[in-house]
Amino acid sequence: MKQFGFLGLGIMGAAMARNLVRAGFPVTVWNRTPDKCRELVEAGAVRGTSPAAVVAASDITFAMLADPAAAREVCFGPEGALAGMAAGRGYVDFSTVDAETSREIEAAITSRGGRFLEAPVSGSRKPAEDGTLIILAAGDRSLYDEALPCLEKLGKKILHLGPVGNGARMKIVVNMIMGGMMAAFCEGLALGAQAELGLAEILDVLDSGALANPMFRLKGAGIAAGNYAPAFPLKHMQKDLRLAIDLGDRLDQPLSCAAAVNERFKEAKQRGLGDEDFSALFKAVR
Ligand SMILES: NC(=O)c1ccc[n+]([C@@H]2O[C@H](COP(=O)([O-])OP(=O)(O)OC[C@H]3O[C@@H](n4cnc5c(N)ncnc54)[C@H](OP(=O)(O)O)[C@@H]3O)[C@@H](O)[C@H]2O)c1
Repeated sequence: MKQFGFLGLGIMGAAMARNLVRAGFPVTVWNRTPDKCRELVEAGAVRGTSPAAVVAASDITFAMLADPAAAREVCFGPEGALAGMAAGRGYVDFSTVDAETSREIEAAITSRGGRFLEAPVSGSRKPAEDGTLIILAAGDRSLYDEALPCLEKLGKKILHLGPVGNGARMKIVVNMIMGGMMAAFCEGLALGAQAELGLAEILDVLDSGALANPMFRLKGAGIAAGNYAPAFPLKHMQKDLRLAIDLGDRLDQPLSCAAAVNERFKEAKQRGLGDEDFSALFKAVR
């Protein structure tokens, strides 16, 4: 039976690894903060001592890490994934990173005879728990085919977008749009509050017409309840806007709206809201 590894048990990684274990796949897990492995081990996973050890014990290793720096650290660092890589093994990185980071990891993995797939995901804590993510894979086709039985337990829509870089870029485009929507939403709610309109009424009007969407519905309810427990941490939204602006720079694409939104999220981070949900932007604009 094929063996699987999972590196990074944050909000998303823990939920995704749990779904693999529940589906009956043998999974070895590792997390920088070891405590987060406990629940997975209780659910049936094996604990790995390092990324290298996990990769060496697995046919396919999945990673779900915070940002480009974390993805690089776990791959290239001491006892990193690369040290355990060997011919035929697979490495699937779900982290949201820039295309350049993804390609560097691909080059290193393939130089050891391994295969690489980037697979950033769209969807937050609840879709990760429910196995209904949208998976934006790109890279080695044979690894995609081999990983598909696992990916099908994690996502409701699984795409193969071509060469490595396309998944990263698709994810960055989607999240740049999402960040802009959140900023417009929060400013609109703040303006409404200043104008002495009821929050519930504004949300109801939005939800009744062409602007209705699941994100406004979900995050609007959270804002109304003052609940900013992180499903998607604000610091990661700001990271994605930074990646989008960098991509815009590289491609000479003006992104004046995203640049302004990025400043808003930076201010919110500076005010200590980085670990709260990205809807906590409301507290910074109000
Ligand atoms: N949450 C969402 O709604 C969502 C949706 C789609 C995509 N994403 C993307 O998915 C990725 C993970 O998001 P998340 O919400 O699960 O984040 P998270 O809860 O902050 O988890 C981040 C993970 O990265 C690890 N990490 C951070 N820096 C590290 C380093 N230098 N070395 C080793 N491990 C490191 C953390 O380990 P520790 O536990 O030790 O800190 C943790 O396991 C991000 O790229 C994010 O943009 C998130």
